[in-house]
Amino acid sequence: MYSKIRIAGIVLIVSVLIYRCSAALIVPTAVDAQKTGTPLSTLVQGREMYIGHCGSCHYLYLPEKLTASEWNREVNLMQRKAKINDDQKEVILKYLTAKSRN
Ligand code: HEC
Repeated sequence: MYSKIRIAGIVLIVSVLIYRCSAALIVPTAVDAQKTGTPLSTLVQGREMYIGHCGSCHYLYLPEKLTASEWNREVNLMQRKAKINDDQKEVILKYLTAKSRN
């Protein structure tokens, strides 16, 4: 009984942490889609792929921390570490640069 409760507690804590990390990442809007000429569904997918591929080694840097050109450089550097192909890299970059620092 004790260990079941403990496992439930750990699951709860981990869920809360995952939720909080991803919730802090700004969600793309229709305005971003219009501004960047990228479909909103692509931006949303980019956010999900960023969460899925980029958060295992370090915390997810907020998009607004870097400029678009800095993101280009960083994501190129990270491509091999994250084991993503060029298409995945492009989608992630679309999201990050749509929300980057100007
Ligand atoms: C396999 C582990 C790993 C994965 C996966 C990974 N990174 Fe990294 N990342 C690192 C390490 C290690 C560093 C520190 C710099 C270095 O050694 O290259 C780093 C550094 C960074 C930095 C620079 C931070 C700074 O303070 O300058 C950024 C931005 C970044 N990563 C973004 C990403 C993005 C975006 C992805 C997904 C495409 C990603 N990372 C996936 C390991 C990883």
